[in-house]
Formats: sequence, C-alpha cells, structure tokens
Amino acid sequence: MSAPAGIPAATYARRRRQLMRMAGPDAILVLPAAPERVRSRDTHYPYRQDSDLWYLTGFEEPDAVLVLVPGRAHGESLLFCRERDPEREAWDGPRAGPEGAVDALGMDDAYPIDDLDEILPGLLEGRTRVYYHFGRDTEFDLKLIGWLNRVRAQVRLGAQPPHEFLELGHLLDEMRLFKSREELRLMKRAARISVEAHAAAMRAVRPGMHEYELQAELERVFRRHDAVPAYESIVGAGANGCVLHYRANRARLADGDLVLIDAGAEYRGYAADITRTFPANGRFGPEQRALHELVLAAHAAAIGQARPGVPYAALHDAAAAVLTEGLVRLGLLKGRPARLLADGDYKRFYPHKTGHWLGLDVHDVGDYRIDGESRLLEPGMVFTIEPGLYVPPDARGVPAAWRGIGIRIEDDVAITRDGHEVLTAGLPRSAEEIEAFMAGR
Ligand code: GLY
Ligand code: MN
Ligand code: MN
Repeated sequence: MSAPAGIPAATYARRRRQLMRMAGPDAILVLPAAPERVRSRDTHYPYRQDSDLWYLTGFEEPDAVLVLVPGRAHGESLLFCRERDPEREAWDGPRAGPEGAVDALGMDDAYPIDDLDEILPGLLEGRTRVYYHFGRDTEFDLKLIGWLNRVRAQVRLGAQPPHEFLELGHLLDEMRLFKSREELRLMKRAARISVEAHAAAMRAVRPGMHEYELQAELERVFRRHDAVPAYESIVGAGANGCVLHYRANRARLADGDLVLIDAGAEYRGYAADITRTFPANGRFGPEQRALHELVLAAHAAAIGQARPGVPYAALHDAAAAVLTEGLVRLGLLKGRPARLLADGDYKRFYPHKTGHWLGLDVHDVGDYRIDGESRLLEPGMVFTIEPGLYVPPDARGVPAAWRGIGIRIEDDVAITRDGHEVLTAGLPRSAEEIEAFMAGR
C-alpha cells in the first residue's frame, strides 16, 4: 500500500480563512490543543490532538492554542505553542517552537505558550463575539473566563469586552462534515488498512484462541501501516457479541461461537470503523446463518438509500423495516410487521441506530437533523452503515437456539455526486463470502 500525500499547509490555511469568513470580522476564535492525560503517576495516555485543532493546523503537539482573529492587521492566524527546549526535547522528542510553527504551518505569527496569559486579553479586547467550544476542557474554560474578566475590569478605561459567546462547533462542524478529496484519500487509506486487519483476523481465527489474540492480529496490521486503533477494538466471542461496547477481549473462542469484531484504524487522524461477524470454526450454524442473512439484508436496504437527496434517517428506517419483517418471519417477534415497526418493537434486538458520521472522530461531528427534519445526504458526507441483531443469552420467550447470538455488519460509505462509494469494500461480508474466504485460508 503506498501512502497518500498528507494535507498540505496551504489547505489548513484555506480552512482557517473559510472559518474566519463565516465567523465575521468582529469575532475571535479560540481553539486549545487537547490536554495530556495522566494514566498513572508520571506516565500518560497516548496523546491524541484535538480534532478541531488538527483540522485547522495539522499541529500534533500538546500545550498549544490556536487563536484566529479575522481582519487583524498584524496577523489573523496565531499559534501559541511550547518553546524549543534542548533538555526537555532530549527526553520527549523535538518541538516545533514558535518559529518552526510559523514556517511549517503557515501561521501569521506564533508565540510561546507561556505568553498566552499576557497576550490573550489584548486580543479579546474590541472583539464582539467569541467562538469557543465551551465545556470540553473545563480548566481552559476557566482560563478564558479569567482573560475575559481582565478585559471587563478595564471597561472604565475604555476597553470593550466581547459580549457574545458562541459555540464554535456551529461553524466548524459543518465544515468538517463535508470531506474534501484530500480527506477522502486519507479516509480510504484508513479503510484499506482496516480491511486488511479484519482479513488477517478472519484468517487467523481458530476455536480455542482468545479474543485478545485476534485483537493482536488486527492491531499488528494497524501499526504495520503507521495507523493506530481509532477506538478500543471490540472482539466478542459468542454472547460477548451482544455487548455493544464490549472491551474485555479476554474470553476463549469455543467451537461453534460466532466472533464479532468491531475495529478500525485511525490514519493521519482519520478513522475507519468496520464490523464483521464470522464463525470461529469457519461454518455458520443454521440460526447464526439465518440472523446473519437478515442483518445483511438490512445492510443492503440501508446502502440502497445512500445517494444525494435522500434523508439520512431513511437509511435507518429501511434497515429497521427489513429487520422487523425478518424477525417476524423467524418467529422472534410476533404480530403485524407494520404495527411492530411503528411501535419500535425491533429495538429489543436492535437497540442502536444504523450509523453515524465518520471522519477525524469515529462518531464525527455534524448535525443529523436540521429544523427538526432529518437532513438530506450530500456529496462529501461519510458515514457508517451498521445494522445488527443481538439476542442476549437470557432473552425471555426466545427458543434457546437463538440466544447468545450477536451480529453486526458495518461498512463505511461516502456519498458521491451520483450515489455512493463503499470505502471498506473488498472484505468478505455475506455468510457465503466469509465461509469461502475461511475455507481458502
Ligand atoms: N465502533 C463504534 C461504532 O461502531 O459506532
Ligand atoms: Mn460505527
Ligand atoms: Mn464500529
């Protein structure tokens, strides 16, 4: 697999300009880096940059703040970041430093992060509106309030503090929802790595293995391609497949178990999100096959709606209708399908929605509804399609043969001008394809 080009500095600069244009000339936008989080004493969780800051700069370091000041004569795009420090860099690796940030990221200006406290009140002064993501990082929220109060304290001396506070996501989420060609290239790469990882797990699986051994197969492939898990890999054998956010990944695979794997790579910040459910021994049992075929039919019905102009909610509605009708046919639900669908009875076996936006965050930003109505699909939107059925081991009134089966089929789809493209194509999906793939290992 050849690596696609990264996002060039000029693209980040264009995004910043577009955001500033939307915010207007009297606004200021403040975007802090994600804080580092302690895992245990002096060791940290792997650092992951805040997606918004990443989207606007590509800057990977913690301890940074991007400030956008539209129309400011002495520079609009300002980055506060850590200074160079040979001693710290010998321990933690290189830093860009303010000078490096200006050169590499195309900032108008950059300052040491330690000067933020001194400089930010002056930048806030005279601006009417502050765009910021309140509540994401409460420590930073308090700092911002402190800087605002410093401006307010100067009112009698003629200072003009901002008086409107707006949710940054209102502007930025809409930008991030529509993926450019450059972004789609990176998302396809994340998808291809994830397809290869799932295929490796399907190839490796044998009854008697442990869930974590399959997790190791997946994540070995991620790392081999310079990717990391976009979220904690879910590997659930047997009834563990019914636990939607299962993450113990410690059980042994019994002969006759299905294995549900929900795992995706993050490549250059962009996530893939794939689920496959396959038999540990290579052959589906009759009830497992019947439910798998039903989930596949729901998946096909949802994908059949994926084109511009269709309401996003139509995909879930199509999947739910197929699942309800099938559950009645199999005897797992009793009653008239239309009635059961209207009452949402399928939720007993299908408690989640059929997908979500996908991008820099696995559950990516962007509104699903506009003015109370499901929004219409448009080219550049990327989302998952992931119907499932879960019959818990203790499900009452259900014949024993169905109990403990959990199945989900999840792919990543981009809306194109005239339809859609499945980014995660090429991985066996149907029971037949999976059995043929496993027989040929
Ligand atoms: N892996 C999280 C999800 O499928 O939404
Ligand atoms: Mn998903
Ligand atoms: Mn998933």
